[in-house]
Amino acid sequence: MKSAVILISGRGSNLRALLDAKLDLDIRCVVSNRPDAPGLEIAHTQKIKCKIIDHRQYASRELFDAALANSIDRFAPDYVILAGFLRIFTSTFVLHYHQRMINIHPSLLPAFTGLDTHTRALAAGVKIHGCTVHFVTPDLDGGPIIIQAAVPVLPNDTKDSLAQRVLTEEHKIYPKAISWLISDRIHMHGDQVLIKNTHPNATNLISPWN
Ligand code: GAR
Repeated sequence: MKSAVILISGRGSNLRALLDAKLDLDIRCVVSNRPDAPGLEIAHTQKIKCKIIDHRQYASRELFDAALANSIDRFAPDYVILAGFLRIFTSTFVLHYHQRMINIHPSLLPAFTGLDTHTRALAAGVKIHGCTVHFVTPDLDGGPIIIQAAVPVLPNDTKDSLAQRVLTEEHKIYPKAISWLISDRIHMHGDQVLIKNTHPNATNLISPWN
């Protein structure tokens, strides 16, 4: 069975979605950089080991990343899964987990990298928004894409209503991507991710619908 350490910073709804999916995955630890992250409670309830590595206790990003890597590596996981982990890593850290670290981001990458994606999507007037699961590379939110889900942007959307619509899709695509990963359905082809046995009969998403 493949193994993982999951990193969180907050609410943990993607962590919950991964746990609810009952993946064939040994989750060896959930690590939070915030002691008060509500997601820790979700891990506790499921009797998963938790660790807090508070970034405020470290004088530099390099020192924090070194402590984080040290903690992760004690569990010797196959994968590091970022589930709302809101810290930027050093390249050293990212390269240490080359092709083994996965992230979910609340936009249709490469659009809207970074923070406040829903506000920026509304300001840009896009009609389709969404979320992306990708491998992590030193290029912020720029790694090879595994899966995306799109949602319409509706006329009366607020940042929160749009975020909620996207989050519902996040909870579907993250377990799917991880299930592909742990069953070796994914392989890298240059900067791209190829997925074995996908169905070719996809339909279009058009927004607005009429
Ligand atoms: C999610 O929307 C996730 O896509 C986003 O943080 C939220 C965490 O929610 N991640 C990023 O913005 C990473 N750049 P959760 O704690 O409920 O899973």
